[in-house]
This record gives sequence, C-alpha cells and structure tokens, in this order.
Amino acid sequence: MALRKIREMGDEVLTKQCKEITKMNLRTKLLINDLLDTMYKAAGVGLAAPQVGVLKRIAVIDVGDGPIVLINPEIIERDGEQTGEEGCLSVPGKYAIVTRPNHVKVKTLTENMEETVVEGEGLLARALCHEIEHLDGKLYIRLAEDGIHDVEDEKE
Ligand code: NI
Repeated sequence: MALRKIREMGDEVLTKQCKEITKMNLRTKLLINDLLDTMYKAAGVGLAAPQVGVLKRIAVIDVGDGPIVLINPEIIERDGEQTGEEGCLSVPGKYAIVTRPNHVKVKTLTENMEETVVEGEGLLARALCHEIEHLDGKLYIRLAEDGIHDVEDEKE
C-alpha cells in the first residue's frame, strides 16, 4: 500500500487541465492503486489524479459499492437535479451546498483500456461530476450556493 500526499486548495496543480491516457503502463497502474489506497485511508468517496499532483485524466470513486476506476471519463448524459452537501479531500474540514444532476452516464475506459459506461444516481452521480471536474482543474467550491461551511468536529 502506498499513500500519496493529497494536494490542497491553493496548490496550482489543482487548477490545471489533465492529459488523456493513451496507453496503460506500470506507472499508471501504480498510480491507480495509490489513488485507491489514499482515498480509502482519507475516508473519501472519490479522488482524482491531480489531487495527488499528477496531471492525468484518472480518478477513483467508491461510494460504498466497491471501487470504480475512471480513465478519460466523459459525461454523455445528465438528468434530474439534486441539491446537497458536498466536500473534497483537497478542501479539508469544509463543505458546501451544491446542485448536481441526479443521474449521469459516463463514458470511460477500464484499467484494461476497454470502453465502458458507468451510470450513477444520487451520491454516485454527484461523485462522478465532482471527480471529472477535477480533471479540468475545477473545484466544487465555485458552485457553492450558500458559502463554504466548516464541518463540525465529530464527537468520539
Ligand atoms: Ni474533490
């Protein structure tokens, strides 16, 4: 297990456009494993490569139904609407209210570089939108509808 340092808001790597993956190699496989390890360790539901300082179009998500790996993902359908709390491992201790589509379809590649479609509703749709935006250098806070709030310290 290899953990990588999560970059935080203010780090300019989070504002850059990521490059498409054209072929799978060992380096990229290791990156995917490290993204998953780092996401689980931080108890997040998603993590994108630029959040660990790598400008590649790769992200991972797990909303509780097992890991999803996204490579060159692209939203091809969106419908419905949901308004709710959203946070980001790169903006620790904060959350905001953000409106997202309630359902999305995403065209992506698998780790074997095969085309597939991932469909998500609710939290998964939110995570898909959020992570894909990281690959275009965008943070969710620009969509905050009622300011940025502090997450209250959880009691033991
Ligand atoms: Ni994020």
